Amino acid sequence: MTDRPWWQEAVVYQIYPRSFNDSDGDGIGDLRGIIDQVEYIEALGIDAVWLSPIYRSPQYDNGYDVADYRAIDPLFGSMDTFDELQETLHDRDIRLIMDMVVNHSSSEHAWFEASRTDPDGPFGDFYVWREGDPDQPPNNWESAFGGPAWTYDDIRGAWYLHLFDVHQPDLNWENPEVRSAIIEVMGWWFEKGLDGYRMDAVNLLSKSEGLPDGDPNGEWVGQEHFINGPRLLEFLRMMSDEVFEGTDTMIVGEMPQLDVAEAHAFIGDGPFDLVFPFEHVDLDFGPGGRWDVRPIELSELKAVFDKWQRAMADSGWNTLFFENHDQPRSVSRFGDATRYRYESATALATILLGLRGTPFIYQGQEIGMTNRTFPSLQSVHDVDTIRNVQAKLDTGEISSYEEIRPVIEHRSRDNSRTPFQWDDSHAAGFTTGDPWIAVNPNYPEINVASEEERDASILDYYRELIALRSADQTLIDGQYELLAPAHEALYLFTRTTGTDQRLVAINLSGEMETIVLEQLQEDAEVLIGNYDASAAGGPELSLAPYEARIYRQSV
Ligand code: NOJ
Repeated sequence: MTDRPWWQEAVVYQIYPRSFNDSDGDGIGDLRGIIDQVEYIEALGIDAVWLSPIYRSPQYDNGYDVADYRAIDPLFGSMDTFDELQETLHDRDIRLIMDMVVNHSSSEHAWFEASRTDPDGPFGDFYVWREGDPDQPPNNWESAFGGPAWTYDDIRGAWYLHLFDVHQPDLNWENPEVRSAIIEVMGWWFEKGLDGYRMDAVNLLSKSEGLPDGDPNGEWVGQEHFINGPRLLEFLRMMSDEVFEGTDTMIVGEMPQLDVAEAHAFIGDGPFDLVFPFEHVDLDFGPGGRWDVRPIELSELKAVFDKWQRAMADSGWNTLFFENHDQPRSVSRFGDATRYRYESATALATILLGLRGTPFIYQGQEIGMTNRTFPSLQSVHDVDTIRNVQAKLDTGEISSYEEIRPVIEHRSRDNSRTPFQWDDSHAAGFTTGDPWIAVNPNYPEINVASEEERDASILDYYRELIALRSADQTLIDGQYELLAPAHEALYLFTRTTGTDQRLVAINLSGEMETIVLEQLQEDAEVLIGNYDASAAGGPELSLAPYEARIYRQSV
């Protein structure tokens, strides 16, 4: 035991309930389905589960549109089932973190219904409303999902702001009543025993006064007026003082476009424990932005991680992730899902659990699930992809889906939302019914049951690596140093506590690579590796395609 907060030693597993396990055959994953698989989750060796939203919701954005912050959507189960899940996890010393979506609610939330029908009533000012010409939005801001960020509401006769979908009106954080309502909700779940929150899109809460136009050429038009806005820290500090203070919880803020220099304001002595930045997963944006793709060099990826690792050396703490429900599958994106799926998935795992910070593993990553194909726009479910493609078709930027299909297949959020692959039976064992989104056709080969049968499996490697890291203070807290930063195939770094050192050596290419590495000692011992490499000390280091090793040595 150390005096470090628990979440610095934790490995977190993210569950997207809709796609994890369906217990009642309606084709949508549910809470009972999670309870049924709790042994699987426990066997991974993780310390906390983060659940994507399960609150009552019309599901336009799969639950990120909350209609009642205190109710479980019947799709997922009841409050009793939630309590049972929380208890089942707690019995196994697994903590539970929930998503909290407070930048916006659903347009079907009672607050919004009241706000649009009774402008002078108690909820009239709960959202960002502007009066004016129904043909002229109040400013040029865009929705992250494409098209204008404003919709004219005929009932109220005014425009409302939605930085995401039209069904996700932004809450008006300038209104103290909104702040207290949210704070009450957050405290309510803590009283139920919850262990923390992943705060959705939380750096968007404060908008510049007067809502001025944004740079029309910006990546997300208007962002300079709503990302890290003027009162953001004040709002988050208040949240922290009133809800988090004195609790043993983990609060992680999702913060699009966050720079390393800005991060320290939010963590360490700031209101949150952790942030999710996106610099490493935004590297492959092409000149045309998110809906354009460019290849990236390994040196660029290493440089981004290196910057964040060094910035958090003395204060703050990093999150580590390659995947979540908004990102494509990492083995398809950073590895080689065709020729070296086992090797590259385990190599990526070694980076994730080898760096300093709290690792987040997304469901299916631990069995090397891959991206899939989307032959038509009709085969896509994700509101973000659909609306952005539609906006591009409407403006004539593209003339057909086919034109943008390679980008969609690389980037779409649906890649990570296909049903979890349990076995090779109907619908990968996810449901007995029709899954809400098509199962990846590779499920007969890629699934938990087949992983369990293989001699060397990605799943076993994850289990072994998580166990190793969780018991190893040097892997948890050791000082980090990058070696050979410019190398385009090898990712080499050390983690050191006093004289005890781990050397993490990874080949992220499909070729054999050899390097003379003075830092690798002759008697270094391999603690874990994805090839058979028991006696492979330095200084000459040869790594097979996507080979990964963690060495122990004394310095
Ligand atoms: C970020 C969430 O991760 C994403 O899934 C969602 O669509 C947006 N925020 C809006 O809530």
